[in-house]
Amino acid sequence: MATFFQQSLFVLLLLHAHQVVSSTPDHHGLIRTLNFSLFQQQVPNKTAFIVLTGVTGVGVSLTTAPFGTIYLANDRLTAESNASSETLGTVQVAFLTSSMDGLQTMLFANFILKTKDREGSISVFGGVKNTEPSPVQVLGGTGDFMHVQGYATCLPVVQVDAGVVFPYEFFLSWPPIRKR
Ligand SMILES: *[C@@H]1O[C@H](CO)[C@@H](O)[C@H](O)[C@H]1NC(C)=O
Repeated sequence: MATFFQQSLFVLLLLHAHQVVSSTPDHHGLIRTLNFSLFQQQVPNKTAFIVLTGVTGVGVSLTTAPFGTIYLANDRLTAESNASSETLGTVQVAFLTSSMDGLQTMLFANFILKTKDREGSISVFGGVKNTEPSPVQVLGGTGDFMHVQGYATCLPVVQVDAGVVFPYEFFLSWPPIRKR
């Protein structure tokens, strides 16, 4: 477990070093891209709950739950791992424990973002390995994220004083707009 925490902290430190919020513009039919990090701030049993405990396998820990567990969260999103950093929106997530060792999860999430530049939602879906960075597919978006494509990397959860933090890195693109 100590090793896992050390790894997670290391990943967080790396993220701090590489906070990228940048985009390339769409001009003359070029693909437009946007990469950024988001941090899901969770307080277990306050902003997130196990609504159904699974049937078999391992117990509930920071990174495991019994097979079939359903866990729902409605958490704040921040620009940095620090809970007091800028709020960028909220995320509604359903986690379903999908492996017998409790270490894999199906994730369904809707990120609702409101920043000074952009407003809209991004929906993602995918299978996540709880202790490894895992890519999940961006299904689409609304508002300023309409027609968005790409993926998000889910990084392992990190325990902090106030609760837990789930870091994400988004790699988004929009298809070129064809000029007639
Ligand atoms: C975003 O990441 C992708 C994949 O690594 C890269 O191709 C693209 O150039 C990046 N865009 C920006 C604006 O950094």
